[in-house]
Amino acid sequence: TPAVPSICGMPLKYVSLVTLAVQNALLTIIMHYSRVSTAPSRTYSAAAAVLLNELLKGFISLVIAFVRLDRQEHTPDAPKTTLSISGVTIFRTCHPRNLMSKFRRLGREVFSPDCWKLSIPSILYVIQNNLQYVAASNLDAATFQVTYQMKILTTAAFSVLLLRKKLSFTKWFALLLLALGVGIVQIQNGAAKAASTEVNLMQPLKGFLAVAAACFTSGLAGVYFEMVLKNSPADLWVRNVQLSLFSLLPALIPIIAANASSPVEAAAAATKGCFVSNLFRNFGPWAWATVLIQVFGGLVTALVIKYSDNIMKGFATSLSIVISFLASVALFDFRITFAFTVGSLTVLLATWLYNQPEQSSAKGWKWSAPC
Ligand code: C5P
Repeated sequence: TPAVPSICGMPLKYVSLVTLAVQNALLTIIMHYSRVSTAPSRTYSAAAAVLLNELLKGFISLVIAFVRLDRQEHTPDAPKTTLSISGVTIFRTCHPRNLMSKFRRLGREVFSPDCWKLSIPSILYVIQNNLQYVAASNLDAATFQVTYQMKILTTAAFSVLLLRKKLSFTKWFALLLLALGVGIVQIQNGAAKAASTEVNLMQPLKGFLAVAAACFTSGLAGVYFEMVLKNSPADLWVRNVQLSLFSLLPALIPIIAANASSPVEAAAAATKGCFVSNLFRNFGPWAWATVLIQVFGGLVTALVIKYSDNIMKGFATSLSIVISFLASVALFDFRITFAFTVGSLTVLLATWLYNQPEQSSAKGWKWSAPC
């Protein structure tokens, strides 16, 4: 396990987990609002949002990877100007010759022989990020949030299968309880009516299927990324750049396909403006907020996977249920039903149970994958 850095004395592990919980709640609410507050014909392109997310995340990761390379490099002969705050180097200039060698070194790290490994989680994450928009458009924020917790189940299953993690009986029981809680919330979903102010008609079944598929990709992509990250010495931020690079092509495919499927519309749109301005048509403040929160979430997720693990990540985001739930009541007129309350409490109980300290392995059952 890597040495865990801290922020203001608090371990980065916990800071990133709590940050992720808050980010998840915000994303669910804002994404939902950004999709349902305008008529479908006037809403922004989800595929364009996913592409923008990858471009921004990739660029930020590249800058961080470059800065970290700067810290690692030992070139005592080069003249440097260093800006440090409390002993932490914020900025350091160096000779242009060194700058070029750093670019080359970063290039070599990004295009390392094993970079192809990131193509698998990249494709899965692009599919997942697109599915999230389908789900957010067709389910109310609170139901989406609770149902999306099923990713804990898929993550645990893939952790056992791919990472050979062993889970105690209590943990498996907590996972079952989680599935039960999500089921209860889903049953009431048909009964609870969405806010009358929302102009977009929601299709709960379509939303549920999208979340179910997103849970599958979330579990597989997260565990695969963890496996690649923890089985090689490559820097987290270099891995993130690779992830974003491999995401670009799959993120472009739905955009190209949409243009190809409606060539008349595409041609009409093209006469009105350039490709980029057409792509980001209807991108209002809420669409931008959704993308920026998603970018932030992607970066925090990477930190959580590095300093904690995927299963813990899932449970941390369960906390965001409470935040989304209260916000849905306040913002979207979400009606609290008995089933929703019971289902949400079951999910929270499962979260608590899963995080109970382990008994010694001699006492507890340990189930693992047969392989
Ligand atoms: O729902 P889940 O936690 O699986 O979502 C993970 C999100 O974090 C996805 O949007 C994915 O694109 C992003 N991510 C990232 N960088 C990583 C791992 C995940 O941007 N290294």
